[in-house]
Amino acid sequence: MLRELLLADRAWLSPWEASTPGIRYPIDTKWMVKSLLDQAKRGTGLALVMEFNGEVVGQLNVANILYGSVSSGTIGYWIAKKAAGNSIVPISVAMTIDYLLSDGGLHRVEIDIRPENEASLRVVEKLGLREEGLKQRYIHIDGAWRDHRIFAITSEEISGSMLSRVRNAKPQ
Ligand SMILES: CC(C)(COP(=O)(O)OP(=O)(O)OC[C@H]1O[C@@H](n2cnc3c(N)ncnc32)[C@H](O)[C@@H]1OP(=O)(O)O)[C@@H](O)C(=O)NCCC(=O)NCCS
Repeated sequence: MLRELLLADRAWLSPWEASTPGIRYPIDTKWMVKSLLDQAKRGTGLALVMEFNGEVVGQLNVANILYGSVSSGTIGYWIAKKAAGNSIVPISVAMTIDYLLSDGGLHRVEIDIRPENEASLRVVEKLGLREEGLKQRYIHIDGAWRDHRIFAITSEEISGSMLSRVRNAKPQ
């Protein structure tokens, strides 16, 4: 299912997808799922899918999880073009942050976004995440090192839940 979605939406997804310097890999969902499950077993990641009307429509991963004195993780996401525009990602991210900052045992959650990605910037705006700054040439995306705007939230910044916050987000 993920493989079909990833192959069908190349033009939609590739400008925002992580790449490896000097190597052009084909889409390999078996390897991707194995690697995500390995990270989950080690406790350094969390792999989730998003469903809409009972159908898988995208992925939400938490990477770089560190516990102890850092207690932070980084969320990444994508959704199929046919399902975009329904607030599925902001709602899914809100529920994930609510989990991570309670039973998940983290103190901080980060989201990194290319300055050109207006739709994703709107997601963090709906979530009310705090902007921390710009990391230059931070992640290799779509074949080159790209700047990223860093957004984050810590548990002290949330009164109530992220889910209620995103449900009450102002329209643009
Ligand atoms: C960014 C992304 C995750 C947003 O997910 P989503 O569930 O559509 O989020 P929302 O419904 O809140 O839409 C966010 C904004 O996207 C824009 N948008 C909505 N439908 C759209 C569509 N069909 N095509 C393009 N942009 C659209 C709107 O500006 C919307 O803001 P609004 O709700 O105030 O109108 C999704 O567009 C996506 O997967 N894009 C490709 C991969 C990607 O960018 N991943 C993130 C990398 S940081």
